[in-house]
Amino acid sequence: MIIALGVPGAGKTTVLKGLKGDYEVVNYGDLMLEVEKREFGIKDRDEMRKLPIEKQKLAQKMVAETLAKMDGKVILDTHCSVATPSGYYPGLPFEFLKLWNVDALVYVTASVEELKERRQNDPTRKRDVDDIALHDEMNKAYLAAYSAFTGAPAVVIYNRNGKLEEAVAKFQSLLK
Ligand code: AP5
Repeated sequence: MIIALGVPGAGKTTVLKGLKGDYEVVNYGDLMLEVEKREFGIKDRDEMRKLPIEKQKLAQKMVAETLAKMDGKVILDTHCSVATPSGYYPGLPFEFLKLWNVDALVYVTASVEELKERRQNDPTRKRDVDDIALHDEMNKAYLAAYSAFTGAPAVVIYNRNGKLEEAVAKFQSLLK
């Protein structure tokens, strides 16, 4: 499994859409949203990170167990950490990482100004625009911990404005 990570709006999903090959892209947020709609009655993606932490953790664990049963070449689109009203919490607790076979951890990022602009210009979402720099910094700390725990390499890809093709090409070069 290859795991794609980054702060919201870094462009993970956009970069993954540009890849060619026989990898199946699985979005952790899509699977959690299904669980949280069913179990907790939420309506949209931007309510997810504001649910009480215990509810988020329950949905997160249910998804981790589903993923452990998946075979084949998978790219997981997810988060190093989730910024909640109760603080940052880990997207990939070690208890989940030990269930999966992780080949690489790929962190997609851009400058704080680019990230802020993308969030403000995304009409489909209610995105927060504060503390982007701190979240990016926290994520890199989580990334190093995940890499040390799994032994998988950590790769950082810059997805700069107007340079999407370069980010896609760099990610593509990591696929076997
Ligand atoms: P998820 O579905 O991963 O989050 P999302 O909010 O949909 O996606 P992101 O916000 O991460 O954005 P992105 O980086 O994919 O950027 P995009 O490609 O859209 O997760 C949803 C929720 O699920 C999370 O909030 C969390 O609550 C929960 N969750 C997920 N994983 C979890 C886990 N492991 N544990 C617990 N909870 C978890 O691009 C953004 C914008 O930028 C777009 O408008 C795009 O067109 C633009 N753009 C992208 N690249 C460029 C470029 N190069 N130049 C110009 N514009 C660009």
